[in-house]
Amino acid sequence: MRRAVVTRFGPADEAVGVEDYTPRPPGEGEVQVRMAAAAVNPSDLVTIAGAYPSRTPLPHIPGFEGVGRVCAVGPGVRDLREGERVLPIGGPGAWQQVKTAEARWCFRTLPELTDEQAALAYINPLTAVRMVQAYAQGSPRPAVAVNAAASAIGGMLGRLLHGRGVRPVALVRGDAARPAVSGPEWAAAVSTDRPGWEHDLERLTGGGPDLAYDAVGGDAGARLARTLRPGGRLVHYGLLSGLPLPGDLARSRPDVRIVLFRLRDWVHAAPRAQVQEALYEAGRLVLDGTAASTVQAAYPLDRVREAVVAAQERGGRGKVLLLP
Ligand SMILES: NC(=O)c1ccc[n+]([C@@H]2O[C@H](COP(=O)([O-])OP(=O)(O)OC[C@H]3O[C@@H](n4cnc5c(N)ncnc54)[C@H](OP(=O)(O)O)[C@@H]3O)[C@@H](O)[C@H]2O)c1
Repeated sequence: MRRAVVTRFGPADEAVGVEDYTPRPPGEGEVQVRMAAAAVNPSDLVTIAGAYPSRTPLPHIPGFEGVGRVCAVGPGVRDLREGERVLPIGGPGAWQQVKTAEARWCFRTLPELTDEQAALAYINPLTAVRMVQAYAQGSPRPAVAVNAAASAIGGMLGRLLHGRGVRPVALVRGDAARPAVSGPEWAAAVSTDRPGWEHDLERLTGGGPDLAYDAVGGDAGARLARTLRPGGRLVHYGLLSGLPLPGDLARSRPDVRIVLFRLRDWVHAAPRAQVQEALYEAGRLVLDGTAASTVQAAYPLDRVREAVVAAQERGGRGKVLLLP
C-alpha cells in the first residue's frame, strides 16, 4: 500500500513524500477504511508546515478529510460493516490507501453524494453552517463582511447568509479572485490589496460591518476588525496569513467582540448522534449547491507534491483532491 508521509515539518511541497507501508490490522473498536478521495485543505498544509508540533507526532500521515469504504472490521465493532462508505474523521491520515480508524469516529454520508462530493462534505460545510447559525441570527439583519471570500468556505458562507436574507460584502486579496465572488449572494466585492479598502467597506455597509468572518488573521484580520462598528463581532476562524491576530487588537478596540471558532472543539464535544445529523445536513447542502465546492483537479497519491502546489495557487480556482 502507498501513503503520503511527513518526517520533518516544512513547506508542504518539500516536506511531504510517499512511501510503501503495511496497514495496521484493526484492533478492538477499529475498522480499516479503503480511502477513495481526500481533500487538500489549508489545515493540512499548516499542519505539515509545523503549526501544531505538540499534537502532531512524526512521522505524520496528513489528511483531515476524506471518504472511503470499510474493508475490515475489528473486534467489538457492531454498527459498521465491510463495504459501507464512511467519513473517518477526528484525526489525520486520509492521504493513504488504507486508514485504520476508530469506528466511533467513522460517520456515514448520504448515498447520493459522489465520492468527490463526500470527500469535501465535512470540514467546510459544517464550519460554515455552525458559524452562520451561531453568529448571524436575529433581527435586524446584520451587515456582514467575509474575507478570503473566494475560498471554498467563503463561498459557503456567502450562500448560507444569502439564504437568510443577508448579502455580505466579499473581501478578496487580489483581482484574480474577483470572478469567484461575482454571484448574487454577494452585495459587492472589495480587493484588500488596494489602499483605502476599509473606506469602501465602511461605505458599502453603511458605517462598518456588524459581523465579520476572518479566515486570514494577522494584520489583515486586525484591519478587518477595526472596520467593525461599535458592538460588532469578528469571528476569527483561520490563519491563511500564517500569523495570529495581533495581541493589542482587543485593547485597541475594546468595543468589539472577537470570538475564535474551531470546528474540532464542537466535533469533540458534541454527542455522536448530533455529529452524524450535522453531517447528513451538510450532505444535503452539498447536494443543493449551498455547501458545494468547485474541484479544480484530482491527483493520484504519487503526485501529492503537485497536488499541494496546485492547492496553493492564487486565484480561487477550487479545491484539490487526492485519489488514493
Ligand atoms: N476554524 C475551523 O474550524 C475551520 C474550518 C474550516 C476552514 N477553516 C479555515 O478557513 C480557511 C479557508 O479554507 P478553505 O478550505 O475554504 O480554503 P481554500 O478553498 O483552499 O482557499 C484558500 C483561499 O485562501 C485565500 N488566501 C490564501 N492566503 C491568503 C492570505 N494571506 N490572505 C487572504 N486570502 C488568502 C486564497 O485566496 P486567492 O484566491 O487570493 O488565492 C484562496 O481563496 C482556512 O484558513 C481554513 O483553515 C477553519
